Amino acid sequence: MCGIVGYVGPNDTVEALLNGLRRLEYRGYDSAGIAVVDETGGISVRKRSGKLARLEELLAENPVSATGTGIGHTRWATHGGPTDVNAHPHLGDDGKLALIHNGIVENFAELRAELEADGVELVSETDTEVVAKLVGREVAETGDLETAFRNVVKRLHGTFTLLAMHRDEPGKVVSARHHSPLVVGLGDGENFLGSDVAAFVSATRRAVAVDEDNIAVITPEEVRITDFDGNPVEYSEFEVEWDADAADKGGWSSFMAKEINEQPEAVENTVRGRVVDGLVDIPELSALGDDRLREIDRIIIIACGTASYAGQVGSYAIEQWARIPVEVQLSHEFRYRDPVLSDRTMVISVSQSGETMDTLMAVKYAIERGVTTVSVCNTQSATIPRESDAAVYTHAGPEVAVASTKAFTAQITALYLIGLHLGRVRGTLSAEASAEAVQQFAELPEKMREAVATHEQIAQLAHWMADTRSVLFLGRHVGYPIALEGALKLKEIAYIHAEGFAAGELKHGPIALIDHGQPVFVLVPSPRTAPLMHSKVVSNIQEIRARGARVIAIVEVGDTAVLPYADDVIRLPLADALFEPLLEVVPLQWFALELSTAKGLDVDQPRNLAKSVTVE
Ligand code: M6R
Repeated sequence: MCGIVGYVGPNDTVEALLNGLRRLEYRGYDSAGIAVVDETGGISVRKRSGKLARLEELLAENPVSATGTGIGHTRWATHGGPTDVNAHPHLGDDGKLALIHNGIVENFAELRAELEADGVELVSETDTEVVAKLVGREVAETGDLETAFRNVVKRLHGTFTLLAMHRDEPGKVVSARHHSPLVVGLGDGENFLGSDVAAFVSATRRAVAVDEDNIAVITPEEVRITDFDGNPVEYSEFEVEWDADAADKGGWSSFMAKEINEQPEAVENTVRGRVVDGLVDIPELSALGDDRLREIDRIIIIACGTASYAGQVGSYAIEQWARIPVEVQLSHEFRYRDPVLSDRTMVISVSQSGETMDTLMAVKYAIERGVTTVSVCNTQSATIPRESDAAVYTHAGPEVAVASTKAFTAQITALYLIGLHLGRVRGTLSAEASAEAVQQFAELPEKMREAVATHEQIAQLAHWMADTRSVLFLGRHVGYPIALEGALKLKEIAYIHAEGFAAGELKHGPIALIDHGQPVFVLVPSPRTAPLMHSKVVSNIQEIRARGARVIAIVEVGDTAVLPYADDVIRLPLADALFEPLLEVVPLQWFALELSTAKGLDVDQPRNLAKSVTVE
């Protein structure tokens, strides 16, 4: 949930740390801090509550000159509120050691009591300071940072990535990971640590993903990785697929605006290389063996938030093409229901970050029960794809805004490709259906550009609705999860009460919410490809309109049936029913962005949220 960066090398240490934190701020932004070995050979800390800009102000007022060793942190508070004192780094060994942490130490109360009984004074409410003091005490006893660090790490329960440095061992940062992400950046005469590659991608694209329960020690010249007992482990390097520009705002007013615009390419890149001779072929699935894929008799998609709505959309397509029953479960509910699983079950996890703790834990639970696990993920070498039997990466590029947009459409795309691959291997997909879907994908980027071009119309609509206190969304079939997603976007970044409903459910309760002027977005299925659903949704529109709703209808171009009943009509290009969600969601994303902007809110960094939820 927090962003961490470590640096050792000859370049400007403060700048290297701030650079990393700027790109990691999406992970948490309620306080930030750095610690460096300074010119006097001591540890200097600068930290402040609030966004990174406040730390930068502090550094301008009270600069620090560093000598090539430093750690930096951007926080999303768990233990202790977002105050200056609780901000990381925390100190141990009389200020000779600094430490930062991402995660939660579950046995911190007992460790804290142990320290207090020993007369150690703690100044913050955090679990992190407890760890800093423990490591500091061990260094004082053993005289060696690595030994001390290992001894303490083995005592911790919970989830953590930890980075520590000591003034008596300049030029070295030690780190450990247990259920939280950690990557090493391999530079030329300098090395980095980060929560993800964004921490160092402007300096190097050579990276190493540190494995679970490993310790990585970096100096300017070397990287050493061991297990918690100090035994060396082998590691392999990978090249980061994108460059620093991809993670920059590039002139857009917000990352979210940039990422909405990038969706046509995100979808195109996710399909790229996966259609061979007109048929979908995903090598990562082929590697599982066709016999294994043919034996699958049930698929469970697990995910959270927006990713779960992508899963819901995908479930319709996989079922239709592969004729396998598919259900979608929230990751954090999955293991508590004692699910019925067998070796013929496939669990598909969907996660942009690949680090969402709820989803990771659900995947581990599935692995323990011997099911086949497939990860749909946007982040190279993240934990979930590495734990899974197969990884089908979305190639959306880095998504920085907390509100997920391009990852969502890329996730739907990847799930559709999985459905088409399974359908082909299992012989359930007709040649015509396959060719039609491939053709739809070929046309999709251009149609998505047209959907993106609804921005101006949506901006005007949002302008008139800036004071709206509640918005409802209705959809049927694949439009239902899009209604849920439209509502989530609005809650998330515009702080407006919003709910999505299955249109058919309306008269079973929610219609009581309809009052004069209540805005309702309705996703209207195509009258060409889904005439029955279309007529039902038009009836739903009439029902809510009769009760005073303000109807904003999202229709395919040429659909005039809703015109008499809609206050606003947003027209999208023609697409087959299963492909409509990839277009329909775009105006809803714009709507949330525009309402957030109209309310003067921070579109990219909404309150109380962080991009990647790495605690359960
Ligand atoms: O990284 P993940 O895809 O696993 O994240 C899952 C959710 O936390 C995420 O989709 C969240 O709902 C977004 N902020 C929605 O915009």
